[in-house]
Amino acid sequence: MQLPKPRGPLSTALCADLAGGRTLREATFAAAHALVAAATDPLTDDDLQLSLAICYELHYRGFDEVDDDWEWDPELLRLRALLEQRHTAALCALVTPVEVTDAPVDQQLAAVIAADDGPSLSRYLAKHGTVERWREYLTLRSVYHLKEGDPHTWAIPRIGGRAKAAMVEIQADEYGGGSPGRMHSQLFAGLMRDLDLDDGYGALWDLAPTVAFTSVNTMSLFGLHRRWRGACLGHLAAVEMTSSEPSRRYSLGLRRLGFGEGTTVFYDEHVEADAVHEQIASVDMCGSLVAEDPTLTADVLFGAQCSLAMDGLAADHLLGAWKAGRSALHGERSLAA
Ligand SMILES: [Fe+2]
Ligand SMILES: [Fe+2]
Repeated sequence: MQLPKPRGPLSTALCADLAGGRTLREATFAAAHALVAAATDPLTDDDLQLSLAICYELHYRGFDEVDDDWEWDPELLRLRALLEQRHTAALCALVTPVEVTDAPVDQQLAAVIAADDGPSLSRYLAKHGTVERWREYLTLRSVYHLKEGDPHTWAIPRIGGRAKAAMVEIQADEYGGGSPGRMHSQLFAGLMRDLDLDDGYGALWDLAPTVAFTSVNTMSLFGLHRRWRGACLGHLAAVEMTSSEPSRRYSLGLRRLGFGEGTTVFYDEHVEADAVHEQIASVDMCGSLVAEDPTLTADVLFGAQCSLAMDGLAADHLLGAWKAGRSALHGERSLAA
């Protein structure tokens, strides 16, 4: 994976340091401080979100021309923490906390989901999606789905007992249950190829809109910090609990355009698997976690709310651009062009 094209002063400085140097320059910190102080909407700030995604990617696959040792460079981590603090504060401002009740946590999660009134992308694409809009949607989602499972998997060593066993059961399915070709990331890559998109890991980062990074950065934040393990599990539960029905609609949308089951398998798999994962995630995984430590309930619900809010940001971005007749991709460059 190549370093992405910078999207502002901070990512320009950061990419230059990672590619050429052995340490972060003071100028890079100055750019980060300036950005954090000035950002009015950190969750949609191109430079902030891309820079944070670059910092996190060092923990995943890294970048071709970047030394692996950067992953645990103390200065890099100091910079990352600065961006994380701004990102976390923005998440807390975006999401209105729900009151924790005595009800089982799966019911509290279901209530959070029922209260979500974000726009439905799957309904739109099922009815009105053109191949071009599908390609834009998949470009956005590729930032996550080509590493599907990975951001949540960080939490596995951070939990124990039944919650851990439940999480491993879900994640094993995400990773294809031992068959590389059944890995959800691979099924997604096949879908991309069928729509003539480059399925290389990270290949479409330069075209992805900011919200794609905001969404994955939120997952990485929750996964990489033990302090956010409750939010990580709540986030995963919300993903699983809101996947089955929309997946059915996405599959229908592709069939309406003439694609066959070789293409829709990514969604068909999620219709089946996530109907099961929903229960394992909410009852077994989150239920066991909070039974052991009830103080984590608020974080579980916060994580679920953040998951829904990130889906809302993505839907608002895509539907807003399409309604206005423009491309939703970064820089408004059309894939066709
Ligand atoms: Fe999946
Ligand atoms: Fe799943």
